[in-house]
Amino acid sequence: MNSILPFLDSNKDRYLRELKDFLAIQSISSQSAHNADMQRCADWTAAQMRTVGLNNVQIMETPGHPVVYGEWLGAPGKPTVLLYGHYDVQPVDPVNLWTSPPFEATVRDGNLYARGSSDDKGQVFIHLKAVEAFLKNKGSLPINMKMLIEGEEEVGSAHLDEFVRDHKDLLKADLVLISDSSMFAKGVPSVCYGLRGLAYMEVEVTGPNGDLHSGSFGGSIHNPVQALSEMIASLHDKNGRITIAGFYDNVRTLTKAERDAYKRLPWSDAKYAKQLGVKKLYGEKGFTTLERLWARPTLECNGIWGGYTGEGAKTVLPAKAFAKISMRLVPDQTSEKAAALFERHLRKIAPKTVTVNVKRLHGGEPAITPIDSPGVQAAVAALEKGFGKKPLYQREGGSIPIVVQFKRILGLDTVLLGFGLPDENAHAPNEFINLDNFFGGIRTSVHFYDELPGFWQHKGKKNRP
Ligand code: BES
Ligand code: MN
Ligand code: MN
Repeated sequence: MNSILPFLDSNKDRYLRELKDFLAIQSISSQSAHNADMQRCADWTAAQMRTVGLNNVQIMETPGHPVVYGEWLGAPGKPTVLLYGHYDVQPVDPVNLWTSPPFEATVRDGNLYARGSSDDKGQVFIHLKAVEAFLKNKGSLPINMKMLIEGEEEVGSAHLDEFVRDHKDLLKADLVLISDSSMFAKGVPSVCYGLRGLAYMEVEVTGPNGDLHSGSFGGSIHNPVQALSEMIASLHDKNGRITIAGFYDNVRTLTKAERDAYKRLPWSDAKYAKQLGVKKLYGEKGFTTLERLWARPTLECNGIWGGYTGEGAKTVLPAKAFAKISMRLVPDQTSEKAAALFERHLRKIAPKTVTVNVKRLHGGEPAITPIDSPGVQAAVAALEKGFGKKPLYQREGGSIPIVVQFKRILGLDTVLLGFGLPDENAHAPNEFINLDNFFGGIRTSVHFYDELPGFWQHKGKKNRP
């Protein structure tokens, strides 16, 4: 480690220059206008893997956007890490709310602003540079490394299950490592041990066979926007609980130990409300904010449209109304069952006056990873060295659907070693990554690779929160 840590320090400017190139590529996976950019981004990732010294680098086609793979297998007898990340990013609109252009990475106040800086190109790049530091200085890594960087995470990883199933041998490893989540707060490093799942639905409500003059026809039929709003409003009761029958059936009850552990975390509802600019928090009665975020399921309307939304007024009674509604799921719910319950419930509450159609967009399963695994213990040790502070344990409310599939298909547990921060505007305008965390992330990753073999030999060492 003697040569590696100083190497990291003396290469900071270069890291930022290279990361800016990565962030300049408009790899928006959901928009077909960017398909060529997706290919360019896969090319860039592959070229970077070769530059840092990985072998057998391949761009592997899928029915969707390609997967990029690279490996270094020169440490026989040492554990093999399957590092997963994604090079695709979310759309950037509304683009006028960005202070600097989303694909021109800009440093302001110790943060690097760009789409994908935190989610997830910046965190993928952290590992590319950690690998490079070993291979350039020592010619070897303390572990074996397989990197799998996909291009469809932000659209539900639709083709990745099949890809993993088709490449079981190639992806054979001892554990999965993912840096695609956040630390608890600035200066408060953490290991994440839980993610929520997701069931994403679209609802279409149809009334009359065409738009109507709201004066000539208003009062005689049920406006689809109103019918849809009434249905959505009825999905929560006055205690903030979801009214879909059977929805909570498989929700695992929080243990007393876990609730107590959450209560010990440095958290203030007042500060959180202020940070978000809301007058008052809202959520399921009987649970704290962290419990609501990490261990309770939710149902959110992500978008609602229909009728006239352009400039000025138009007196129209729309023929259709739509909503996108997603449910975040916790163990032991499944996305299949949540989607089925949602469909059944909407059929039940649909008024006779309109036609309701429900479509499934995508889903993913909730995950809990074992915190007494050697991988997590190595992460704890690495974070303490990288950030100078013992990390705490947390869950996250977001979803990474492939985590459960890695367990099911490859039998592998995942270590979630996130270097983002909860307020870095992921998926929103002005996304950024904090530069202290970015450089701390490279240091921590270097320590993780270095620590892992020792912990791997002493499997079973316990260190619970
Ligand atoms: N990196 C996030 C997941 C995440 C967010 C983990 C916050 C921990 C904390 C990932 O890129 C993401 O946005 N996932 C989607 C999944 C979906 C598209 C299937 C999500 O959570 O909405
Ligand atoms: Mn991500
Ligand atoms: Mn994301």
